[in-house]
Amino acid sequence: MPGPRNTTNKGWPQDVGIIAMELYFPSQYVDQSQLEAFDGVSAGKYTIGLGQSRMGFCSDREDINTLCMTVVQRLMERNNIDYQEIGRLEVGTETIIDKSKSAKTVLMQLFEECGNTDIEGVDTTNACYGGTSALFNSINWVESSSWDGRYALVVAADIAVYASGNARCTGGVGAVAMLIGADAPLVMERGVRSTHMQHVYDFYKPDMASEYPTVDGKLSIQCYLHALDMCYQKYTTKAIAAGIRDGNSTLDIADAVIFHSPYCKLVQKSFARLLLNDFLWDKEPDFQGRYSGLEALRDIKLEDTYFDRSVETAVMGASKDLFAAKTKPSLLASNQVGNMYTASLYGGLASYIYSETSESIAGKRVILFSYGSGLASSMFSLQFSKDKTSGGALDKLVTSLNDVKQRLDARQCVPPQEFDSNMKLREQTHHLAPYIPVGSVSVLTPGTWYLSEVDSMHRRKYARQTSPLMDIDNPVIEGKQSSSHPTQQAVNGVGSAS
Ligand code: ACO
Repeated sequence: MPGPRNTTNKGWPQDVGIIAMELYFPSQYVDQSQLEAFDGVSAGKYTIGLGQSRMGFCSDREDINTLCMTVVQRLMERNNIDYQEIGRLEVGTETIIDKSKSAKTVLMQLFEECGNTDIEGVDTTNACYGGTSALFNSINWVESSSWDGRYALVVAADIAVYASGNARCTGGVGAVAMLIGADAPLVMERGVRSTHMQHVYDFYKPDMASEYPTVDGKLSIQCYLHALDMCYQKYTTKAIAAGIRDGNSTLDIADAVIFHSPYCKLVQKSFARLLLNDFLWDKEPDFQGRYSGLEALRDIKLEDTYFDRSVETAVMGASKDLFAAKTKPSLLASNQVGNMYTASLYGGLASYIYSETSESIAGKRVILFSYGSGLASSMFSLQFSKDKTSGGALDKLVTSLNDVKQRLDARQCVPPQEFDSNMKLREQTHHLAPYIPVGSVSVLTPGTWYLSEVDSMHRRKYARQTSPLMDIDNPVIEGKQSSSHPTQQAVNGVGSAS
């Protein structure tokens, strides 16, 4: 792995991008077909209609701070990074539990032991887009005169929960941490980043007392697809200007296209829409090949087609094979965990990397589409380095994600009734103080940080589960045991709860 650098010796950094990545999701999930039966909807609505298999969720033991601490510590430990080497740390999230204090400041606990407090960055919020904003800021920092030669760390994390009803099945929970620096194995391409921002009320969270958003589901889909069209057209224009799109199709320059995924079916429809954009852009479309069957769509206007079934059917058919090759592999985490809001796009990137080897991925370009309701959206591309050397930076990035599927499969399936009770518990205890969480600690994956107590001043105390075998399901006793238990780390005085 390339180390941090002294800027004065080496000049401006080159090949700035992602050096290492970590994906975290909770240890429990609910099966979407069981949820269909429990919710009384027709069989297939969530699994086929929305394309979801499992939905991850967490108990009152996990909050936005635990997600961030868990994923950051995993990244640092698994990549042997010294906490002193971080010069910027930024969190993208829409899971707000404090209107003033950032999750970034809570993460500073992890840096206490090494004494590093010289770390720029706080939190960024706009629905599912905050992680992308944090990523852009961090890349910009490394490329700027403010850079001090150290790494930046980007965290995208969220708990996606909806009130009971048709949106609940599109929830999920997850966190991604990304180490950003120069000479990276996955480089942000310059000059093609494209953005579309607009004022809309498609999905927002005006009720400060609730975890749930206010959602206009249909409008959110329309806004997502419109933002996708806008970003893709701008990306195409910039890619032509940059000389990286020399043929007739933007899809052709991408080995993979990765989307923010509220649910997998929307991503499949979105991929088809990119083909439709390419088709409308192409002055001499090949009706014998890729665009066969689309002749009747030559004069359509994109803005008339968001919910046009005949257009959708035609372009999904035409793009089926390309979708399977370029996008389906990136949907593993989305299909298995659900929407992770800010982490969703980067869970997609981790899934794509998991599906490849360092040999097969070297030199490939991925185009990414980030969407956050409200709305903020961007399209950008990343390119993997060509260096396939065993033990090199690319090899390390790829092999570090080798366990994604195994970890997804190792989770515990929980019946919908239990999931439902858990949601009620979260509703009743959200923002309660003082509060001792009641969720099981023993179900947490080793290395997971958890909430041990909220005191009467709303101060949250955390501990880390480091053994799967601990018999500490009573949180009060557990808090008391923590300072002496050899397998449990405690910070911010959790041990002093005793
Ligand atoms: N078998 C197969 N397919 C079925 C079945 C069945 N038994 N029943 C329904 N379906 C299909 C429907 O035909 C529909 O397909 P289509 O989208 O191709 O038309 C699909 O399943 C979903 O059914 P709907 O009736 O459209 O679903 P509903 O309106 O109840 O809810 C929605 C879907 C709007 C996505 C809701 O879950 C929601 O509001 N989610 C949160 C908002 C969201 O995720 N928005 C996306 C972008 S913004 C963001 O990222 C948060």
